[in-house]
Amino acid sequence: MSIKTDIDRKKFPEHVAIIMDGNGRWAQERSLPRSAGHKQGVMALRDTVRAAVELGIKVLTVYSFSSENWSRPQAEIKYLFKLLERFVRQDVAELHSHSIRIKIIGQRSNLTRKLVEMLEYCEDLTKDNTGMTLVVAFNYGARNEMTSAVKALAQRVADGELNPNEITEQHIAAHMGTSGIPDPDLLIRTSGEQRLSNFLLWQCAYTEFVFVREHWPAFNKDVLESTIEEFRTRDRRYGGLATSTG
Ligand code: IPE
Ligand code: IPE
Ligand code: MG
Repeated sequence: MSIKTDIDRKKFPEHVAIIMDGNGRWAQERSLPRSAGHKQGVMALRDTVRAAVELGIKVLTVYSFSSENWSRPQAEIKYLFKLLERFVRQDVAELHSHSIRIKIIGQRSNLTRKLVEMLEYCEDLTKDNTGMTLVVAFNYGARNEMTSAVKALAQRVADGELNPNEITEQHIAAHMGTSGIPDPDLLIRTSGEQRLSNFLLWQCAYTEFVFVREHWPAFNKDVLESTIEEFRTRDRRYGGLATSTG
């Protein structure tokens, strides 16, 4: 039976975040260049977006380039950026036709003007869509995001708009790139690594983590469904007591 026909909405993740890892290893295992893994990774992303829509996921967040990925060889960075540009050119119209709203989080100040305009184009085109929200973390680092939020709040205090004693968690959340988007329910990392690598540190306070062995290019709807099944066995207590406890 498919997950969709067996839905217990309370136990279904509305927001799924994915650390798409293992492109290089997938390629290496096939004696291919790392670039082939990244290319195949884009296909897995396409399939996963489609699967997420079919499953009724409301928000899908994907980690596509981290603020630490600048330490990779220039040629690899260049190729990853080329794939992003190609994805925008080839896929955004289709995502738009499925009423998907695209939101891009991450730093923009160190990107080229052309790239920033492309990202803005995707967001503008799809901003009124009411289907699934696709959040793309590009040139993203959680510590950088939190630092920007602290700076913005400090500026408001300096301008006399805000009293430091009145700063709440909601103020901080409102200054994150993810403002207005609910926290992830489920975080998946492919390729067997069990770490966050500077992804959504604030937002994942109570997220359930599922790590899968598959490399990202081999990810598909079946693997996604298996992570949701695993999620549904979890008891989310938020510091309280088990739901079965009377
Ligand atoms: C994920 O795959 C893609 C990016 C981080 C951009 P990797 O490129 O990290 O692949 P591995 O982890 O080296 O196998
Ligand atoms: C995390 O993967 C970043 C993305 C998937 C975009 P990395 O491959 O960069 O993470 P580390 O270096 O293994 O922690
Ligand atoms: Mg990696």
